[in-house]
Amino acid sequence: MMEITQRGSHGDVLTLKDVHVQFHNRLVLQHIEFAIQPGEFVGLIGPNGAGKTTLLKVILGLLTPNRGSVTVDGLPVKHGNPLVGYVPQKIHLEPDTPLRARDLVALGLDGHRWGIPLPSRSRREKVDEVLRAVDALDFADAPVGRLSGGEQQRLLIAQALLTQPKLLLLDEPLSNLDIRSAHEVVRLVSSIAQNQGIAVLLVAHDMNPLLGVMDKIVYLAAGNAAIGTVDEVVQNEVLSRLYGYDVEVIRVRGRILVVGGNNEVSTDLLQPTQHLDSMGGATD
Ligand SMILES: Nc1ncnc2c1ncn2[C@@H]1O[C@H](COP(=O)(O)OP(=O)(O)O)[C@@H](O)[C@H]1O
Ligand SMILES: [Mg+2]
Repeated sequence: MMEITQRGSHGDVLTLKDVHVQFHNRLVLQHIEFAIQPGEFVGLIGPNGAGKTTLLKVILGLLTPNRGSVTVDGLPVKHGNPLVGYVPQKIHLEPDTPLRARDLVALGLDGHRWGIPLPSRSRREKVDEVLRAVDALDFADAPVGRLSGGEQQRLLIAQALLTQPKLLLLDEPLSNLDIRSAHEVVRLVSSIAQNQGIAVLLVAHDMNPLLGVMDKIVYLAAGNAAIGTVDEVVQNEVLSRLYGYDVEVIRVRGRILVVGGNNEVSTDLLQPTQHLDSMGGATD
């Protein structure tokens, strides 16, 4: 684990110390150590299989690490903590799903964490409030299956905001979105982080849509992580140490590519046969 940005632990929303996760005999995450402060937008970046979802599960309290500690707002993680909002990888909604946008969001109110059901008026107010936060009031009564991928993603973010979390975890919210929708979602999440002071940890295998909005990057590869600013972390030496072999960072037209020894790109969105020019947005 390379800690490039040193920060104090006071006021951290999320702190991971020396986290190790092992599946059977395989070490999937080792010595993961970083902290996130209120309002920070952090990208959790790494190739397929790097352990990004596993790390989110640890933070959600769904998976107990074999070693190390994780705290949210200074307390050990527990599953169902309302301080943690979670947007899972995109759910597939059939076009004829008989749910309105606001009903999908309201499903988040019926989780066990709320205990007794809320009266219908305050339910509606809470749902309207989060719909407004993701700029979705215009399509609040539309059938969810008819909405675009970006609009559906915004609804899932709204749902995650219902408990007024201090930390928002998003697992690959940009995969399956076209470049424009991806940028819209990134802008939205970034403004939520800034305006509401919510710390964001957003998982992506392609860092490019997040350049310019990330305060920090946590780069995961081969079970190791480096944290810092993009300029600090996305360097040949730093990433080569993580991967355990020589990789090269190439900047082309404002985009960043990480290329391995055999000209393989570390992010899984590219086939080796693709030409650089054809690099569009992240598709899964
Ligand atoms: N429950 C599990 N049991 C065994 N291996 C797992 C389990 N969950 C994930 N893995 C393995 O751990 C590695 C990291 O997986 P994952 O966290 O899903 O990666 P990412 O989200 O970065 O693509 C993968 O090799 C995956 O196969
Ligand atoms: Mg994953």
